[in-house]
Amino acid sequence: MRKAVWGLWLAVWAPAWAAEPVHARHAMVVTVEPHATDAGVAVLEAGGNAVDAAVAVGFALAVTHPSAGNIGGGGFMLVRFADGRSTFLDFRERAPGKASRDMYLDASGKPTNESVIGYRAAGVPGSVSGFEYASKKYGRKAWADVVTPAVTLAEKGFPVSYGFAKSLQRSAGLLGKFSESKRIFLRDGKPFEFGETFVQPELARTLARIREQGARDFYEGETAHLLAADMEKHGGLITLADLKDYAVVERKPLTGSYRGYEIITAPPPSSGGAGILQMLGVLEGSGYEKAGAGSAAELHFLAETMRRYFADRAASMGDPDFVKVPLDSLLDPAYIAQLRKSIDPGHATPSSRIHAGKPPAAESSETTHYSIVDADGNAVAVTYTLNFGYGNGVTVPGLGFLLNDEMDDFAAKPGSPNGFGLVQGEANAIQPRKRPLSSMTPAIVTRGGKLELVLGTPGGPTIINTVLQVLVNVVDFGMNVQDAVDWPRIHHQWLPDQLVMERGFSPDTIALLKARGHQVKIVGNIGEVAAIHAREGWLEGAADPRTEGTAKGY
Ligand code: DON
Repeated sequence: MRKAVWGLWLAVWAPAWAAEPVHARHAMVVTVEPHATDAGVAVLEAGGNAVDAAVAVGFALAVTHPSAGNIGGGGFMLVRFADGRSTFLDFRERAPGKASRDMYLDASGKPTNESVIGYRAAGVPGSVSGFEYASKKYGRKAWADVVTPAVTLAEKGFPVSYGFAKSLQRSAGLLGKFSESKRIFLRDGKPFEFGETFVQPELARTLARIREQGARDFYEGETAHLLAADMEKHGGLITLADLKDYAVVERKPLTGSYRGYEIITAPPPSSGGAGILQMLGVLEGSGYEKAGAGSAAELHFLAETMRRYFADRAASMGDPDFVKVPLDSLLDPAYIAQLRKSIDPGHATPSSRIHAGKPPAAESSETTHYSIVDADGNAVAVTYTLNFGYGNGVTVPGLGFLLNDEMDDFAAKPGSPNGFGLVQGEANAIQPRKRPLSSMTPAIVTRGGKLELVLGTPGGPTIINTVLQVLVNVVDFGMNVQDAVDWPRIHHQWLPDQLVMERGFSPDTIALLKARGHQVKIVGNIGEVAAIHAREGWLEGAADPRTEGTAKGY
């Protein structure tokens, strides 16, 4: 009798051991900001498909999450249609026509911070073009219907959240350098407080023009003229011709498999898809998972796998329209087997023994990812960005939006670290009109042709490793999607030779990793995942507890 009661108690309470995702039967939107999530859900409820919702969310985040949401930056949209087809829209920024290989080196040949701050850091933005392309080709709602939610949010304003207020404060140094950014985002030194309403009339007018005239306004119309004139005034490189010349590239997604799951993900100029496919290849058949999630042995194997991929990333990746990216060799099963064999379960392989390079320092920043599934089963994963939080800090007077500093994703000096501490090679050197190499990794996972997971995250180079970890948490460790997202993460990027770990691992585990030779660095948060798992007739949505994001569906 006692036993039965105990069993009953366990049955009732067992679910409390796991964090619960948000459940919905038909459709789900997960983003990093509640108003943007709501905008996406509203478009779906009004008969839009996942692409319509993705465009609406993209514009809404440009208003409510300006550190990363943008119309002055670029990104990737991965779509898997309900009938199994998939596509990848590359609306990544491009180097301006006047860009040149050594444009960020000073007289002594040292990289300057001009690739990160100010007018010269901006690549030609792609977001508006990407959204229009997606909407025209794959959406079913009118353009005005997907832009209007953002116009309204900018015009009427929205309450500043605790996190947004803090983030603005943290970036006051950057935003304060440029008078228009200082006026709009720092209210000329009277910072916005939690709960105050943030209204953006200039941005509302820009978005309204985009609603009326489409991307033409941004690339040829009033917005383009204001932007190009301000660039010229401040020594920036983007011209009207660059804007007019911008084009979205529709690419074939990169695909692979892992333990019976099909993986659909980002091709170059992202380095992320190749990364997760190579790393999953190394993990598959290694038995690494037997040690258990979060054990030192498991984390060691993951870290060694990451270290090896990032060495390859540095050596050979760039914009496929400019350089030959050796995807076949990076994903060659024999090569992957060799990588797997080179991992010593008892000892960290020093990065210096994998490739040569100079250890830099890395600090993180912002990008954003959102995931959407509609009632027909179409899935969309979008990661887009200004690169570092609030981009290059510049708001063009009259336009109301921030510009990116995506030029820093190039190797300003091949062999020297960029702002993320990434050491990169010639393949990613600056050239006019080239796209900088990215780590953004929107991903969709299916099994037996049926949708399983939609996921992605910001985090610069940590993106690739974060997507990998959430994926294996579900596939290898059987976690529900919320647990998989909540779970503490690690990151290794070859150089610097250090194992970065979130808080939350036990001191014993950390000691065991140090004993294997890892140089451990404990940090706050890694990544801001937005994930959806289609499971047992439900859509399970997981926003990342590291953010103020929401998952909502119906
Ligand atoms: O494309 C990339 O890899 C970077 N520009 C992404 C930047 C990023 O994720 C910053 N966020 N935390």
